[in-house]
Amino acid sequence: MTQRTSQIRKAVFPVAGLGSRFLPATKAQPKEMLPIVDKPLIQYAVEEAVAAGITEMIFITGRNKRAIEDHFDKAYELESELEAHNKQELLDVVRKVIPKNVTCIYIRQSAPLGLGHAVLCARPVVGNEPFAVLLADDFMDADGGKPVLAQMTELYEYEKCSLLAVQDVPRANTRQYGIVSATPYRSDLELVSGIVEKPKPEEAPSTLAVVGRYVLSGAIFDHLENLGVGSGGEIQLTDGIAALMNAERVLAYRYAGQRYDCGSKLGYLQATAAIGLKHPETAAGFREFLDQLKG
Ligand code: UTP
Repeated sequence: MTQRTSQIRKAVFPVAGLGSRFLPATKAQPKEMLPIVDKPLIQYAVEEAVAAGITEMIFITGRNKRAIEDHFDKAYELESELEAHNKQELLDVVRKVIPKNVTCIYIRQSAPLGLGHAVLCARPVVGNEPFAVLLADDFMDADGGKPVLAQMTELYEYEKCSLLAVQDVPRANTRQYGIVSATPYRSDLELVSGIVEKPKPEEAPSTLAVVGRYVLSGAIFDHLENLGVGSGGEIQLTDGIAALMNAERVLAYRYAGQRYDCGSKLGYLQATAAIGLKHPETAAGFREFLDQLKG
């Protein structure tokens, strides 16, 4: 894991959603614990934050919080078993889940009132600093290039304003996303002039969709606090960003990398296949199997 210094030191991971699209797998564990090959989604996201120089990981947890807390905690029994059986490689894997200089903080969201509410729960720990938000079910594969959040924290150093990761989506799918209206700013960046949550295709202002990586100014909290219930009866981060945008510059960033929506079954399978074909332990055998399947 390469680490770099950054002005963004804190990252918020909202993991308190119901994950209803993935039931029954998410009945007793958060969807962020679903593995891609051998690592849970949340660990990929934490590694992405570490690579962006972030040292404080703030998890907004819900009713199924234990698995995530346990995952990032020391596992004494497991470690002594592995040690006793001389399984050094596995011991290293377990111990390297989180670097020593990283702090994990857990805040409980009392009820799943929406992503905006989940982010607001982080206010007592974040304060007024700019911070990152990562939705771990949006799995980002930078394919050996600079990880997506590091691309954004580097941009923050020049632009000093809130940044939203965006990608073009088919118009038929706008109902699944926050959609921005934006004007060209400079290569890969657009100036956001409007944002709306889950618009119908015929009403969407564009096809530029916000995905699960954000760098936000601390001012977002005041706006989130003043919000009422929005789309789907939830307190929406999108509405907070719409209010922020009227007070401060917000930029949309076309990141370099491939996103997989691992909150959906198809996206999860696609991510598993993509990583399975690159993982040193599975690549060759998995490719052979896929070739056999194709007949
Ligand atoms: P989603 O919109 O994917 O909702 O949340 P969900 O409940 O997790 O999943 P489905 O739609 O029922 O299948 C986007 C992100 O916001 C978090 C989720 O954990 C996910 O990372 N979230 C959402 C919260 O932390 N709290 C909430 O109240 C809502």
